Amino acid sequence: MNDGTIDSLREALKHSPDNTPLRMLLADTLLNLNRFEEAEAEYTLVLKADGNDLKAKTGLARAYFQKGNYSACNVILEEVIESGRQDVTILSLYAKGLLKEHSTGKAIEIYKKALALDPTYFDEELDSQLRVRGTYEQQEETTEAPDSRFLQKPTVNFQDVGGMESVKKEIELKIIKPLQHPELYKAYGKKIGGGILLYGPPGCGKTFLAKATAGQVNAKFINVGLNDILDMWIGNSEKNLHAIFDLARRNAPCVLFIDEIDALGASRSDMKQSSGRHLINQFLQELDGIDNNNEGVLILGATNTPWNLDPAFRRPGRFDRIVFVPPPDDTTRESILKLKLKNKPTAAIDYSQIAKKSEHYSGADIDAMIDIAIELKLEASFADGIPQPIDTKDLLNAVKKHKPSTQEWFMTAKNFAMFANDTGLYDDILNYLKIKK
Ligand SMILES: Nc1ncnc2c1ncn2[C@@H]1O[C@H](COP(=O)(O)OP(=O)(O)OP(=O)(O)O)[C@@H](O)[C@H]1O
Ligand SMILES: [Mg+2]
Repeated sequence: MNDGTIDSLREALKHSPDNTPLRMLLADTLLNLNRFEEAEAEYTLVLKADGNDLKAKTGLARAYFQKGNYSACNVILEEVIESGRQDVTILSLYAKGLLKEHSTGKAIEIYKKALALDPTYFDEELDSQLRVRGTYEQQEETTEAPDSRFLQKPTVNFQDVGGMESVKKEIELKIIKPLQHPELYKAYGKKIGGGILLYGPPGCGKTFLAKATAGQVNAKFINVGLNDILDMWIGNSEKNLHAIFDLARRNAPCVLFIDEIDALGASRSDMKQSSGRHLINQFLQELDGIDNNNEGVLILGATNTPWNLDPAFRRPGRFDRIVFVPPPDDTTRESILKLKLKNKPTAAIDYSQIAKKSEHYSGADIDAMIDIAIELKLEASFADGIPQPIDTKDLLNAVKKHKPSTQEWFMTAKNFAMFANDTGLYDDILNYLKIKK
């Protein structure tokens, strides 16, 4: 098609001005040649004859889009879609128009509709702007408010946690006491709120301790992982986060435990910079409770990588206590061992010897070690079908087979503690490693 075609089409239309298919052909051709003004004029003429011509409407919307008149484009497409005509190209044009007008939420909704209509559909521009991580999987709609699945019934308490006395004390003071004696806090005009951030090497009991806190307090306990909150669509993560804090506020007094805060650091590199920033800002706002009252909402967070966390999180009223959860020491390892072996067939066991031999083990390493011992024992038990009790020798054998997993973390942590410790934030790590400041 070229300018010559246009001329002959115009000529033909002179003789039969009411020939709609012919005028549509002219309009479409003009559009394809980027002659948007003229195309607009022809589509408008078609619509004058028949105001419901959906093809003409769509063409007109396309012309408006190309001209940068996005609001006109969107108004028309909204009509077209409402009238029941939903095909992927119309939906995707509408999503693009919405994006241009910064209606991201609505654009996501429309793009999702297009994907539902045709799961193989892919539009690079929309995808890169609306989808923030992972690949799209057909998933059920879970946009409704978070519910009881985050409200947890405690199953463990501090008695199930071996050792860790100083961390328990910290939680006692900052979380448990305020919930037990709200009237005392009121008397001093002190608000009940704020939070503790637990940090430390993996597998050393942060999550476990938080869950035990639930059993320790006589209040509701909300347990979420930040990964539950992150959503692949821009804007949804913020919405989810808000919903969780709302749930906490509605259930106050309560403890809100947010695990895997590391995901926030990861999100900065994974997601587009700006969307990561949005989530961080939203998180800070929720912590402050600016528009909402956080009275009675106590927050417990856990992360392996506190150095990735924006320093703004540590301001008063937010995570005002940062607590190091170290690997268990000898006596703690001994009590963890006893706890873990309590309901298993065992012979007389030299707990303290095993505790000594398993230096640098985390709680998770102890789990793994016991698992290995059991596997060895199972093999021996198959012969006569009688469960053989686990003894000291089995556990010592297992220790030889499992390497502690905490060392790697300390290599990184040590660097931060030595070179990025202006505020003394990581003094606990230095103390633990017996490094002098
Ligand atoms: N002090 C402890 N007493 C009893 N069990 C413990 C203790 N510390 C750790 N454990 C055990 O170790 C396992 C791992 O602990 P947990 O999952 O709480 O570690 P984490 O610090 O949250 O690790 P990650 O950073 O990888 O999330 C738990 O299932 C728990 O059984
Ligand atoms: Mg954990």
